[in-house]
Amino acid sequence: MIKSALVTAALATGAWAARPFLNEPDTGIQLALPDLTVGELPPLDAMVGLPDFDYAARNYLPIRNYTYYRNGAGGEWSYRNNMEIFHQFRFRPRSMIDISNVNQTLKTTILGHEFSAPFFISPAARAGYGHPDAELNLVKAAGAQDILYMPALYATKTIEEIAAAKKEGQVVFQQLYLDSTADDEITKALFDRTEAAGADAIVFTIDSAANGNRQRAARFDVGSAFVSYEAYSWEYYDKVRNMTDLPIILKGIGSVEDAKLAVEHKVPAIILSNHGGRQVDGSQSSLETALEIHAEAPEVFEQIEVYADGGVRYGADVLKLLALGVKAVGLGRPFMYANVFGQEGVEKAIELLKTEIAYDAGNIGVPDVSKIGPEAVNWRTGFCGFGGGKPQGPR
Ligand SMILES: Cc1cc2nc3c(=O)[nH]c(=O)nc-3n(C[C@H](O)[C@H](O)[C@H](O)COP(=O)(O)O)c2cc1C
Repeated sequence: MIKSALVTAALATGAWAARPFLNEPDTGIQLALPDLTVGELPPLDAMVGLPDFDYAARNYLPIRNYTYYRNGAGGEWSYRNNMEIFHQFRFRPRSMIDISNVNQTLKTTILGHEFSAPFFISPAARAGYGHPDAELNLVKAAGAQDILYMPALYATKTIEEIAAAKKEGQVVFQQLYLDSTADDEITKALFDRTEAAGADAIVFTIDSAANGNRQRAARFDVGSAFVSYEAYSWEYYDKVRNMTDLPIILKGIGSVEDAKLAVEHKVPAIILSNHGGRQVDGSQSSLETALEIHAEAPEVFEQIEVYADGGVRYGADVLKLLALGVKAVGLGRPFMYANVFGQEGVEKAIELLKTEIAYDAGNIGVPDVSKIGPEAVNWRTGFCGFGGGKPQGPR
């Protein structure tokens, strides 16, 4: 039985490998913009889906700036897998179900804060490479659209400048990198600064313990500015969590073991992530990690809030993660690319994704997005061999 599953998986792998990777699948944008010249920004109206913003940014930005955003680690296999993996699992649409109210069901809570949609802007450094107003566009767009923004520590604008651009009452979670070799006072000072700026939570990124091998970025001298080998540990987490009143979320969980340890260490929420495939090539995508947790420790999804990011480009991708129990889904590059159009561009990307989620949920017979479950997807269509080749999930 297992043998035949492996043969099927191998055949499926072969078929998949024969398919060329397309950074943006061909949906006709070039046909729609035949006169676009290199360096020109297309009209915002021409953007009909999130991949279009990648096309626009690549055409418009200086190569160095675009490369910083687009870059993945090594041969960028994880970068590609992050996107491709979603298309290995297909929906099991149900019909004859009243979904007429589905677009009213996108609202969610993230750590108790209410938002209009189950997705957020993941932390990404150097928004200034896309637009002079940098992160200010992102924080304003998130505020206007009522979604969560996680500003990066290494943003172009300061923590305080971004905080000053928030709308009244807007919730942001501040991403931080912590230096495990630094004196406690330095860490405490960073926490105090984050609290003083009004952040509602800290997002501690733990998937970058060493520098990433970034070949594309190295060609254009836009790799990471520092080289480090961190001494992170659960004891370190237990220590730093007592240095601030803010909840400290962990970003960059990539295995069921670490998800379970996060529960043990009373981490309030985790973000499944491989850093957009930018840190270690070959790391599994957050969908694969979510499947691993679903198969081996599904209780984790009930014990703490689980978020995920990486490769999300469509409403359908969001739904597949939510189906496994993920509470909210993050996007990095799509919003950085949309930022070349300024706040308006970021808002348009948010609106497009909201609409896609509602349409897709409706078309698969999910009347309430917040209640989607694993039965919405045929998890056996993937060839990943979770659990040693045994098909996982309810079908
Ligand atoms: C240009 C860029 C800069 C990033 N900078 C950070 C960062 O400073 N801190 C962090 O935790 N993650 C960072 N990330 C990772 C994102 O938070 C997120 O995990 C990733 O972009 C998700 O994949 P996606 O771009 O395919 O949506 C960055 C990603 C990109 C694309």
